[in-house]
Amino acid sequence: MDIMTAQFKRHAETERQPIQFSVDGVATSALEGDTVLTAILNHGKKLRNLEFSGEPRAGFCLMGACQDCWVWLVDGQRIRACTTFVSEEMKVITGTPEGPWQNQQ
Ligand code: FES
Repeated sequence: MDIMTAQFKRHAETERQPIQFSVDGVATSALEGDTVLTAILNHGKKLRNLEFSGEPRAGFCLMGACQDCWVWLVDGQRIRACTTFVSEEMKVITGTPEGPWQNQQ
């Protein structure tokens, strides 16, 4: 991800411990204490694509209220990116995982 196209720019607390994690299989980095949303938007313009229209989303409220920042972990757990701290070796998936509920009408 290109830092010049990042949604967020870190201006403070740059000495926190580095963390390695991945987003959709791509290795990336964060600093200890970052939320998943902060960690991802420090590297790019979007968090995920909206499951209905496909339009890019970057969260909205950034405080756990709007539901705009759902992402998944490889174990299938759905998390709010804005209220979940990133951790070492975390594997984040930004697209909706395949599942039987998707075929229900
Ligand atoms: S950005 Fe609103 S709940 Fe996460």
